[in-house]
Amino acid sequence: MTDRTQSAAFGVAATEPGARVLSGMQPTGDSLHLGSYMGALLNWVRTQEQFDAYFFIPDLHAITVPQDPAQLRQAVRRTAAQYIAGGIDPERSTLFVQSHVPEHVQLAWVLMCQTGMGEASRMTQFKDKSAKGGADSAGVGLLTYPILQAADILLYQPHGVPVGEDQKQHIELTRDLAQRFNHRFGETFRIPEPIIPEVGARILDLQEPAAKMSKSASSPNGLINLTDTDKQIAKKIKSAVTDDGTEIRFDREAKPGVSNLLTIYSVLTGKTVGDIVAEYQGKMYGHLKVDLAEIAVQHLGPVRDRTSELLDDPAELDALLAKGAAKARDVATVTLTEAYQKVGFLPGT
Ligand code: AMP
Ligand code: TRP
Repeated sequence: MTDRTQSAAFGVAATEPGARVLSGMQPTGDSLHLGSYMGALLNWVRTQEQFDAYFFIPDLHAITVPQDPAQLRQAVRRTAAQYIAGGIDPERSTLFVQSHVPEHVQLAWVLMCQTGMGEASRMTQFKDKSAKGGADSAGVGLLTYPILQAADILLYQPHGVPVGEDQKQHIELTRDLAQRFNHRFGETFRIPEPIIPEVGARILDLQEPAAKMSKSASSPNGLINLTDTDKQIAKKIKSAVTDDGTEIRFDREAKPGVSNLLTIYSVLTGKTVGDIVAEYQGKMYGHLKVDLAEIAVQHLGPVRDRTSELLDDPAELDALLAKGAAKARDVATVTLTEAYQKVGFLPGT
C-alpha cells in the first residue's frame, strides 16, 4: 500500500502535526504469526513513518485467560523483540508494556461504569472465547476486555488505530464509549479511526482456508510463526491446501486457498495481486508455492534471527521498555487526570 492510500484510509489529514497512532498485540501463543505480522505489524511499521506512534504489549489483556507466569514474562519480551525485529524503531516510536502504565486500568474502571452489560456481552471475541468453556465459567476479565482496550486507546488521544479486520468491533465500541463520555461530561477524548490494511487484513489458515490464521489453529501446519525455521516456513507454504482446478486467479469464494497465497505474496513483495496473477498465467499451483516459499523464507528469516539476537540481551530490552513506559505515562497521566476531574473526583494531593 502506498503512503497515499494509507493516508486516505486514515480519514484525517495524516500531515497534521503530531498526528498519533496506537496499537498492541497480545503476547500469547508461541509467537506472533504470519497473520498478525501482515495484518498488523507491517502496517504499524508504515504508520510510524508518518505519525507519532505508540505500540505496546497488552499483558493485562493476556491474563483474561490463564497464563503461566514464567511463560508470560518470556512472551512479553519475545513480543517486544518481534515488534523491533519486524521494523518498529524504539527511538522513533514509543514502545512499552501495558502493565507498566497503571493509568490503563484506572481509566478502564471509569469506562466500565459507562458500558452496558448487553453492549459488552455482544462483542464477538467475548462470545467466541466464553463459548469455549461455557459462558458461566468465563472470567469477568473476558467481558471487560474490550473496555480495557478502549482505555488503552483513549488515554493517548490517537487519530488512528492500525489493526486487522477482527478488531473492528472493538474500535467501534471504543468510539461509542468516547462519544458517550464526551456527551455526558464534556469534550475529553478524541474519536479514533481504525486503520485496516487493504491487503492482508485477514490472512487465512494454510490448511483450512475457511478460517483466519490464528494461534488456535487446528493444525500446526496452518500457521506460520515468526519463530519458525526456514525449513518449517517452506514446508508449510508448499503443503498449503489449494483449491480444485489448476488456474491461478484471485477469487475469495471459489479459490480461498490460492487467493490467500496470492495475498501473502502481494504483501511480502509489494506487487499487486493483478500483476502476480499475470506473471503466473499458464503456470501451476506448485510454481506459485515454490516461489512463495522462497520469498517467505527470505522475508521472515531475518526477522526471526534479529528477534533471537535481541532476546540474548534481556536487560537491554527491559531498559528500552522502561524508557518507553516513562514516555507513555507522560501522555496517559494528562488524559486520566482530565477524565477523573470530569467525572467529579476530588483532586488528590
Ligand atoms: P492477535 O494475534 O489475535 O492478538 O491479533 C493481533 C493483531 O493482528 C490484531 O490487530 C489482529 O487484527 C491482527 N491479526 C490477527 N490474526 C490475523 C490474520 N489472520 N490476518 C490478519 N490480521 C490478523
Ligand atoms: N485486542 C487486541 C488483539 O487481540 C489487542 C489490543 C489490546 C489492542 N489493546 C489494544 C489493539 C489497543 C489495538 C489498540 O489483537
